[in-house]
Amino acid sequence: MFEIKKAEFIMGFAAGSSFPPEKRCEIAVVGRSNAGKSSLINTLCRNHKLARTSAAPGKTRQCNYFLINGDFYLVDLPGYGFAKAPRGEKESWGELMDRYLSSGRVNHLFLLLDIRHPPTDEDRQMLAYVVYYGIPFTIIATKADKLAKTKVKPAANLNAKLCGAPPYAIPFSSETGAGREELLSRIEAILADRNGEAEGSGQ
Ligand code: GTP
Ligand code: MG
Repeated sequence: MFEIKKAEFIMGFAAGSSFPPEKRCEIAVVGRSNAGKSSLINTLCRNHKLARTSAAPGKTRQCNYFLINGDFYLVDLPGYGFAKAPRGEKESWGELMDRYLSSGRVNHLFLLLDIRHPPTDEDRQMLAYVVYYGIPFTIIATKADKLAKTKVKPAANLNAKLCGAPPYAIPFSSETGAGREELLSRIEAILADRNGEAEGSGQ
């Protein structure tokens, strides 16, 4: 099975700075503030000190690049929907996301939805954005440990549907590690696709 053997923090990029020049396969993690993006990266990499997390929303303030297995990037993005964020900060977040998503750098996007809450307008907007830019995506229902086992699958799938996506989401928990293997298989498939594309383009 595909495993993450090495994860290194490379750099953080804020509004106004440029992205890494080196082109690698890039998987970005987006979602509402506090949805569990940084925790998901830590759980995938089995390193709880890799990305900084916090119980208070608005922890991640820039695009943080992690180089995985010396091969591809996982990118932790700042969350949206953080009501207390100052207006100026919301604007620079919008600019940063615009610039990032339209850059053509992103090979795949993980859109995180907290399994306990129906998607917000901002979640739907984000998905519409991702579809507009033609970025392949996977919906992930986070904090699956917060629901009774029998409710997890239906709630995850319903949230994907309410967000405007096909009715399927991978339930995930950073507390229990549920969904970790499915997500690693997903990453393996994304990387295989990338390799297939590279071969195809040479013909
Ligand atoms: P921002 O950086 O503010 O956008 O937030 P984020 O999406 O990166 O969330 P983060 O990973 O910092 O987690 C937010 C809070 O939710 C923290 O208190 C985490 O411990 C908690 N949390 C994250 N994932 C899970 C999970 O799967 N289960 C439970 N029970 N709590 C979680
Ligand atoms: Mg974060």
